[in-house]
Amino acid sequence: MANTILVGAQWGDEGKGKIIDVLTEQADYVVRTQGGNNAGHTVFIGTQKYVLHLVPSGILRPEKKCVIGNGVVVDPISLLHEMDGLIKLGIKIDGNFFISETAHLVFPYHRELDEQRELMKGEHKIGTTKRGIGPAYGDKAARTGIRLIDLINPERFEPLLRRRIRENNDVLRALGAKPLSFKKVHAQYRAAGDRLRPHVANTVVMLNQATARGEDILFEGAQGTFLDIDHGTYPFVTSSSTTAGGACTGSGVPPHRMDRVVGVMKAYTTRVGEGPLPTENAEVADMLHAMGREFGATTGRPRRCGWFDAVATRHASMINGIDQLAITNLDGLDSLGTIKVCVSYQDGATRHDYVPSDAVTLGACRPVYAEFRGWQTPTGEIRTWKKLPLRCRQYLKAISELSGAELMIASVGPAREQTIFL
Ligand code: GDP
Ligand code: IMO
Ligand code: MG
Repeated sequence: MANTILVGAQWGDEGKGKIIDVLTEQADYVVRTQGGNNAGHTVFIGTQKYVLHLVPSGILRPEKKCVIGNGVVVDPISLLHEMDGLIKLGIKIDGNFFISETAHLVFPYHRELDEQRELMKGEHKIGTTKRGIGPAYGDKAARTGIRLIDLINPERFEPLLRRRIRENNDVLRALGAKPLSFKKVHAQYRAAGDRLRPHVANTVVMLNQATARGEDILFEGAQGTFLDIDHGTYPFVTSSSTTAGGACTGSGVPPHRMDRVVGVMKAYTTRVGEGPLPTENAEVADMLHAMGREFGATTGRPRRCGWFDAVATRHASMINGIDQLAITNLDGLDSLGTIKVCVSYQDGATRHDYVPSDAVTLGACRPVYAEFRGWQTPTGEIRTWKKLPLRCRQYLKAISELSGAELMIASVGPAREQTIFL
């Protein structure tokens, strides 16, 4: 399969988990390279539903190796909880699951600060997952973070944590929040460190050696292009590089070792949290929510929904270098008589074919729509391209062309087998 970077081409929740699970069959390693437990990747195997937050979605195939790369921020308590959940379900995580020793840790003060900063912002809040992701990446950039390699070295860990708790307690008190007990956090994290130690590795060397041996790596993107810290709708973004470049810095595997980029996108658009969403549409949202769909996999919040936005996916193809597309949730549109696709944005007299650089301008943009006739046929049981209704194929071809990349997969349901390869 070669080394593949898989990215979300919209605002997250594109169905990356499902597509990763499908593509893992052809890979040797599956690697998370950014984000943390703000991610929620859903995989169905039969009727069993798995929601992965930190552990790569490849873990469900026991013969594959899974890695949390250096670019991820790891909440060790949440990770152990997830690992325990997997063990209970009979999933193997021994000898096939590794965590980078240079991944940064998320601490309770990060979660508390995330919460307090959102409260202070009031109506201008970001709508974060409150998992402490922003403050943890903030510490990493400020060079005050604590890494896994520190956690598993008790003499090193204690003074580092003591200092960080002292400093953060001053901030928390100033914000009117409860300070943290060093003793409690220290004991909890030390115990977590002891349990994680067997999984901690120099994953940079591990992955580069695997590549040198000709083994194939699948890089599992989290979040989506427009939540990227640089390229997203700032400040309504997450705090990591969710675009293709993040796979290199977040794993230590160099750019020229990457062979292709797969972009995952829904056949419509969703977003959870605040910030502009040009094609947002109440009828699309009501329809999907009535089907029991589009509720957040991490926070359970109803996702905002709208028509497919080809300006956004075109932009995503450009900055990620997307070679191939996986279009998911096609079946969500099965009942519609008319389907709209945003082909450009109008902002007063200005037309935009790419996403404008700032959230304020984007918020003022009005979508220009092309209309497609719906196929009004259930697609969930269809397994081949030829058997898809003609209008459905036309829709898929049109949105791939508008997005500027080749269609590789159409997904017609959450299960592995509900996948059509072109
Ligand atoms: P991720 O964060 O990109 O992995 O996506 P999520 O798991 O948060 O959200 C995607 C949702 O869509 C999950 O509930 C998946 O089970 C579901 N899903 C993925 N592909 C399809 C599809 O083709 N059809 C349907 N009906 N559901 C899908
Ligand atoms: P997956 O990997 C969708 C959103 C939050 C919020 C913003 C910042 O499942 O696609 P954060 O907690 O990261 O500081 O929140 O980013 N967000 C996601 N939205 N899918 C995700 O992950 C997300 N991870 C973060 O809702 O708007
Ligand atoms: Mg998700």
